[in-house]
Amino acid sequence: MRDPARPVPRVDAADKVTGRTRYSADHRPPGTLHAMLVPASIGRGRVVRLETEAARAVPGVRLVLTRLDAEQVRSPGFPQSGYGYGFQSLQPLLDDRVAYRGQPIALVVADTLVAAVEAAGLVDARYEAEPVAVTLDAEGAETVVQAEEFPGIRRFADIEVGDADTAFASSPVQVDMTFDFGPQHHAPMELLATVVEWHGERLVVHESTQNTGAVKHGLAKVLGIDPARIEVICPQAGGSFGQKTWLQPHVALLAVAAARLGRPVKFVMPRKQTFLATSFRPASRHRLRLGADSSGRLLAAIHETRSQTSRHDLFASDYPSITARLYGIGDFRGTQHLTRTDVPTPGFMRAPFEHVSAFALESAVDEIAYATGRDPVALRLDNDTATDPVTGNPFSSRHLAECLRRGSAMFGWAARTAEPGSMRDEDGALVGWGVAAGAYRASAAPGVARLRADAEGRIAVDVTGHEMGQGLYTAVARTVALDLGVPADGIRVGLGDTRSAPQHLTAGSWGTATALAAVHAALRELRTRLGVPDDGPVDVAAAVAATGRPEVAVEAVTRAPGQSVQAVDRLNAGLSAPAGPEYRGFSAFSFVAHFAEVRVVVETGRVRVSRVVSVVDCGRVASPVTALSQIRGGVVWGIGATLREGSEPDARYGGFVNADLADYVVPVSSDIGRIEVAFIDEPDPLLNAPGVKGAGEIAFVGVAPAIANALHHATGRRHRRLPIRLEDIL
Ligand code: MOS
Repeated sequence: MRDPARPVPRVDAADKVTGRTRYSADHRPPGTLHAMLVPASIGRGRVVRLETEAARAVPGVRLVLTRLDAEQVRSPGFPQSGYGYGFQSLQPLLDDRVAYRGQPIALVVADTLVAAVEAAGLVDARYEAEPVAVTLDAEGAETVVQAEEFPGIRRFADIEVGDADTAFASSPVQVDMTFDFGPQHHAPMELLATVVEWHGERLVVHESTQNTGAVKHGLAKVLGIDPARIEVICPQAGGSFGQKTWLQPHVALLAVAAARLGRPVKFVMPRKQTFLATSFRPASRHRLRLGADSSGRLLAAIHETRSQTSRHDLFASDYPSITARLYGIGDFRGTQHLTRTDVPTPGFMRAPFEHVSAFALESAVDEIAYATGRDPVALRLDNDTATDPVTGNPFSSRHLAECLRRGSAMFGWAARTAEPGSMRDEDGALVGWGVAAGAYRASAAPGVARLRADAEGRIAVDVTGHEMGQGLYTAVARTVALDLGVPADGIRVGLGDTRSAPQHLTAGSWGTATALAAVHAALRELRTRLGVPDDGPVDVAAAVAATGRPEVAVEAVTRAPGQSVQAVDRLNAGLSAPAGPEYRGFSAFSFVAHFAEVRVVVETGRVRVSRVVSVVDCGRVASPVTALSQIRGGVVWGIGATLREGSEPDARYGGFVNADLADYVVPVSSDIGRIEVAFIDEPDPLLNAPGVKGAGEIAFVGVAPAIANALHHATGRRHRRLPIRLEDIL
């Protein structure tokens, strides 16, 4: 038996590195046909003619699907409008409209992938093109006030605490700055992949997703059939990061094609199409005004944002939520605008709002530190708060000060000289040290855990949750193993499968909190049924045998604190039901402090992030091995998001010009220096019984401003845009 004190490694690691893990496209039912989409090549307008003869003539082509009648397929609806399952409400092939470049206008199905690709290239479309607006400032882009579009929805409303305008105007130290953040695209290693199979009346879908529940119920809505006829399976996604949050519009088209042809159909979206036909991090502009007294006490902040959305949906933003809470700022106002442009509906991408909000706020705080002659760490410590300034309630747990103190010691911050340009390494490169903090809401959703133990000591648990590489299998297995005193690698864990447990979106860093709350409750129930004490090791085989039954099965359904039973109804309908950060009587956030070291070669402007220290308060660490990887991965991505990644909108034709991994530059190993991570590892006492908060997104929040503040320390130059490119340094 494994020593419970030894860390449980990633339980799915051996399968992954030996190729046994089966991703969606690895599923190959006999007779599978291959599909390819035909993307629109204009940015907006109408399809006036579609020639498919040449495509149909390609040997092996079985079907070219063009316009569908609305009887067959409907809009999936858009979740933020209250009810829906799609990443956007727009369902392609319903009419002749083109809303964005890359929108599918036809689907080709053939015996082989080669034939499908060739035929898709031969579909000849004639268009009536209209002028496009793909940037915030483009002519024809339409701006609306978010709060007016979502009346009564607190999460999308303005935040107003005190009188920020008056408090800012009378602040002795003021900064007023505007930031521009370009769009970015997710680039998970595993592409969007789907295999659809009809078994008579039943539809089985293998889909790379973080939300099998929404794919199931969304397909039922789009196809107009009973959700009980649909099962969606995704035991492993090879990365996702928000790209696979909701139903992709092509999945229903694949189901229609598979039904017509009586054969399974597979589709893997080419990388280029993922840059044109899926959601992305929208462009946003932020004006931030921050006022302080001469000692650096923060008095007032006004955070005004404008965020890109599509013509057909309002992707609501949540930018001021952390700006209002990272420090004890007494007077605050946050106002958000949305700008409609000709793009697919933007969506969540790791720390969708917090990443850029932290960049704005933490750049401003650094300026306040310089303006008041304060050390940036000391200034942040002085502005810490135990109460949520927005609600006046306490935080469930908040160890930001300890993150800053411990990080400062690990990094060696005391040796920093404050003057920009004052530190150099032996070969003359400018050295900069920067710090930034971050917060990310600690959410949770309703969850179900079905736990079975048999008289041979075998344990199986099926849970609400998806594995995307973040380590949920490991966190669940380790939780059961430590509770019962059994080895983790003998426990069968089932995730991402609508056949075995209701499935909810795994996102917003609530996955572990949600799944482990349910698993913890199921373990209590199992102990009761086995008649064993509420804690301590259990001889599972003997305890089950003593019941006289071959197997004991229990189910636990849990909700986030304060959630009503309607949240469970939403879970069962494939709809999102997360709670937080505001709960009855408390607010819950994860916190982080990042310390970054940059080296800037004076002659060339080349920037290297040689060192990062990150200290994280994510509650109790449920799985140390995978949590460490999460934080490291977040830092790596943070380096990419700061210095590399940016999607370039094509103002002429719509879409993005750098729609592949050759031109959309992500960091490689040689871009990454040393990354040291530490966890506070204190359980959150209020959020759930295991005491966990999220780790996935907090890892990323604050990396970019820590690097930008380090760059300022090295060069004396401030940065107001992301990514920061060579031309911004020189
Ligand atoms: Mo995430 S952007 O909540 O998958």
